Amino acid sequence: MRHLMNPLDFSVQELDRLFDLANDIENNMPKYAHACAGKKLATCFYEPSTRTRLSFEAAMLNLGGSVLGFSDANSSSAAKGESVSDTIRIISCYADICAMRHPKEGAPMVAAEKSRIPVINAGDGGHQHPTQTLTDLLTIRSLRGRLDHLTIGLCGDLKFGRTVHSLINALSRYEGMRFIFISPDELRIPDYITEMLRDKQIPYEEVIRLEEKMPELDILYMTRVQKERFFNEEDYIRLKDFYILNKKKLRKAPENMLILHPLPRVNEISVDVDDDPRAVYFKQAQYGVYVRMALILTLLNIQV
Ligand code: NCD
Repeated sequence: MRHLMNPLDFSVQELDRLFDLANDIENNMPKYAHACAGKKLATCFYEPSTRTRLSFEAAMLNLGGSVLGFSDANSSSAAKGESVSDTIRIISCYADICAMRHPKEGAPMVAAEKSRIPVINAGDGGHQHPTQTLTDLLTIRSLRGRLDHLTIGLCGDLKFGRTVHSLINALSRYEGMRFIFISPDELRIPDYITEMLRDKQIPYEEVIRLEEKMPELDILYMTRVQKERFFNEEDYIRLKDFYILNKKKLRKAPENMLILHPLPRVNEISVDVDDDPRAVYFKQAQYGVYVRMALILTLLNIQV
């Protein structure tokens, strides 16, 4: 039995197979309509979510399976003090696979140790968000045709943004990658990530101004400032509008650059960018459904 805690849990070859499957699902939806008949997905969300939880549920429903779960820790027995280890033992009696989001880093991993069903980390604190990364990789691979030899700018909250940490981890395995980290000083990328890049001799730069490196980017990955992870509100207010991508700033961007964002967006991308053909963040959300369908089939060992 396999779980998904970190994008590195799958080899590059396994990821390729998963993305091939996701593209096949995209093009042949009806073929998969009953693949998970009789199977149940539990979504255990101890932290708010729209896309991740609903896209998991949509994915399972598209596969002909059913879903159960909770979307708020206060409506589960966590409010009575139950541990995630105990909760997952119970969920193992009710469902075939579980997607779990938790504010504590490592909580889904603790659950996986006691689980009798595959557990998917749907975001643990500021740590990892592997299924968002699968979504991001599938989007880039499908719209750009490859996952290597790319310059990617990651902009915004690089300190607390778990989608950023997961994505860098995953992309660091492909050849010819170059990273540009764009953030205010207070929200810089954590040292453990730059150390990993230095160890692997992967080039990266850290800059403060968004426009500076725009002409060099193949991908621009925007993120929101992670309000819920700040210790004090004043810092959040000071930093929340540090970057606002708008039409004017995009003038310097290459014609074929892709703009991704895990969403939700707050102010960091002005709505006038939405109809620019380079803005693919809504398409990205659609890819999130296909890749989660592929992931559910893979972890449940179901071949269609
Ligand atoms: C992200 C998350 O939860 O980390 N959202 C998502 O799952 N698409 C990004 C965010 O909340 O900023």
